[in-house]
This record gives sequence, C-alpha cells and structure tokens, in this order.
Amino acid sequence: MNKKTLICFPKVLFVDDELSVLETFKSIFRNQFEVTIAQSAMEALGLLRMGLRYDVIVSDIMMPGMDGVEFLSNAKILAPLSTRIALTGHTDMDKLADVVNRGHVYKFLMKPCRADRLAAAILEAVNYAAHSRGTDADFSRNLLAALNFRNLETSMHVERVGRVSALLAQTLGWNEDGSTLLRMAAPLHDIGKIGIPDAVLLKPEQLSDEEYAIMKEHSRIGGEMLRNSSTPLLIMAREIALYHHERPDGTGYPHGILGEKIPLSARIVSVADVYDAIVTQRVYRNAMSHAEASALIKNGRDTAFDSMVVDAFISVMENLKTIYNPN
Ligand SMILES: [Fe+2]
Ligand SMILES: [Fe+2]
Repeated sequence: MNKKTLICFPKVLFVDDELSVLETFKSIFRNQFEVTIAQSAMEALGLLRMGLRYDVIVSDIMMPGMDGVEFLSNAKILAPLSTRIALTGHTDMDKLADVVNRGHVYKFLMKPCRADRLAAAILEAVNYAAHSRGTDADFSRNLLAALNFRNLETSMHVERVGRVSALLAQTLGWNEDGSTLLRMAAPLHDIGKIGIPDAVLLKPEQLSDEEYAIMKEHSRIGGEMLRNSSTPLLIMAREIALYHHERPDGTGYPHGILGEKIPLSARIVSVADVYDAIVTQRVYRNAMSHAEASALIKNGRDTAFDSMVVDAFISVMENLKTIYNPN
C-alpha cells in the first residue's frame, strides 16, 4: 500500500492546455493532494466518463476546443459531487458570470495564482463539500420528519422510492455519484404534501375531483419549498419534487411538459413512485401484485412513463421482487 492511500489525500484533477502549468501543479502539490492532470477538456471528460472521481476539479477557462465553461458544466453532470474551481486570466464580467452560472463553480481565481492561495482554495472546497453533504442530508431528514408528522405511511414509502430510483439509475448507466445523489434526493419527492390540508391528505376514501385537484398542488408546493436550493442534492430534490407527476405524453402536472423536457431524475422517480404505491397497501385500497404492477408500468411506456426508464425497470423487475417480497 502506498503512502497516498494511507494518508488519503484529497483527489484533485487539474485541467489546463499548458503542460508546463500542469507539471508545476503536480510538483508543488504532490505532498498535499493526489494530483491528476489533463491537458484538455476532452481528456478530463474521458477520465470522468471512465468513472474516476475527484474531490475537487480545477479548470482553466481559456482552452482551445472545449473551453472551461463548457467543460465545467459537463463535469457537473458527470461528477456532481466534485467541487469545481475555475482559474481564469479574464476580467471580462460576462465570462465570469458564465463560469459561475453554467459551470456552477465554488470559486474562481485569477491567473496567475499563488500556490498557497490555490492550495487554500482547494482545501476550502474539500471542506465545503463535506460540510454541505452533511448539512444537506440533515436538512433532508428533518424535512422528511416534518412530513412524517402529517402522514405516517410516508417514511417507508419514500425510503423505498429512493432505493428503487437508485437501482433504475444504475441500470441506465448513471455513475455512483449520480445514483447516490438520486437515492438521497428521491425521498423528498412528495415533500410538498406538507402543504396539503389534512381533510385531503388523510382522507381514507377515494378523493373527489375537487380534492384531487388540491392534492395535485403538492408538486408545485414541493418545487416552491426547494426553490432556493444551491447544492447538488437539493437542486435534484427540487426538480424531482416539481416534476415527478409529469408524463412524457404531456398530460401530467403541474406543467404538462413533454418527454425529455422532464428532467431524467423525475422520470426515474415517477416509475419508482408509482410502482411502490401500487405494490404496497394504501388506506383506500389493497396492494396489487408485482405482476399487476409491472404490467401497469409496461402499459404506460411512452405515455405515462419514459420508455428508457420502463426498459430499465423491466430489466430489474426480478430484483425488485426481492426488495419488496410482494405477493
Ligand atoms: Fe407525488
Ligand atoms: Fe410518492
């Protein structure tokens, strides 16, 4: 076992088109970080696509081919748990705004940057990520506890929806970061039910049309509750809360948006949520069998549910049977 594995240095990926800059980073930070270098955005994206993970990604902005803004916004999707830092020689405010808004960077530093400043920013980014992950998880648990006070069936349901969603995401090729994030975000899908009156939320019989219209408001309320989210977990939780009742055929709610306009996270949770709801017993009706529930999901391919997600569901149907052990 080498020294680095024992000490567990933060893993840092440096992306710059100038090899001399990368070589400098490599030598000055070798006793502080586990350094990986990439000489272009494409090379760096290749590493992320291979599933390699870094605590922090430091990228130059001006690079030939794909620039740093484009790279960082792609890196955000491939490795949402890595914190991003931009290094830029620019003072162009539009470009800087672009870096922050599209690249979702934690910090940008002006080039040339002193090594001690860069090292401090990287360590800050590592601490920020660890801290925000912890506080996000606490926040999410507290929100769910609040919902649980209102509706006791919820805690088991949301936990299972998280597990099934993560399983579907992995089947769709999501990497570990993404599926972990989804497992943590999916349980918040119905958080907007906090805003639904007891007479509707807890009604033991089928809802009337008017009551159903009130119940449907939970997705809009959930989206509003999480509107000011800025961390990867809560941004994903918001899109799930808002869009998990949308349908690819455009007949869902609250917006009636179509197909791929619905965020994939929400399309996945939609299948997991419906499956869980129908194989588990609800107050107003008995549970359906696994076979009946699966048939219902398959029948909704391309209308109620995303075709890719339904295919992923079909390929893990047997595993689901063991998670639920339904009749
Ligand atoms: Fe819902
Ligand atoms: Fe649900």
